[in-house]
Amino acid sequence: MPIVAPSILAANFLQLQQDCNMLNESKADWFHLDIMDGRFVPNISFGIPVVEAIKKTTSKILDVHLMIVEPEKYIDDFKKAGADSITVHVEACPHLHRNIQQIKNAGLKAGVALNPHTPICMIENVLLDIDMVLIMSVNPGFGGQTFIPHTLHKIKELRKKLDEVAPEVLIEADGGISLKNAAAVIHSGANVLVAGSAIFHTANPTATIGQFKMVI
Ligand code: DX5
Ligand code: ZN
Repeated sequence: MPIVAPSILAANFLQLQQDCNMLNESKADWFHLDIMDGRFVPNISFGIPVVEAIKKTTSKILDVHLMIVEPEKYIDDFKKAGADSITVHVEACPHLHRNIQQIKNAGLKAGVALNPHTPICMIENVLLDIDMVLIMSVNPGFGGQTFIPHTLHKIKELRKKLDEVAPEVLIEADGGISLKNAAAVIHSGANVLVAGSAIFHTANPTATIGQFKMVI
């Protein structure tokens, strides 16, 4: 069964408590929290106080996706706010190995994210140090974008490589994931499905989460 991680970016911020309650009562596995700084990506989302507030509503895993420059400055703050895993972008980390160590030393799961144009070989030398690779299936910065089909080849290539060296490392697909493409994403080798619009912008988010869990 895939791990389903609804993206809070698509929630209704005026009723965040209700939306969190809905996720708690649903089959959602993780809460996916998209942090954007207006520098690494051309958009600003929400920050540490919101992560802290969400933590108080749930015992589910908080999967924090940092789309920010200099993420090393904020690892401890996000840990204190309640992050269980932190994913940083390879494109934002000239000292990626050190940044991964910092996340692991903080006692958190460490993920590395790749933009659509970034080849898998960029993370070849850290595959043994991480818990997860996040493959962006849209250009990061906004919810509601269209899935980039080339992502499927990328996931297959990564899964093949991981099976050789670190099969336990999870692949998380993020951006434009819907019930239409979820099966192809899972068949390609992904383990975690992030979905924002496809969950929150439907008539029955709880039922949609259930349908994502049934994807094989
Ligand atoms: C995009 C974010 C995604 C986004 C997904 O930069 O990383 O997590 O919220 O939203 P949808 O599912 O609407 O593409
Ligand atoms: Zn994300």
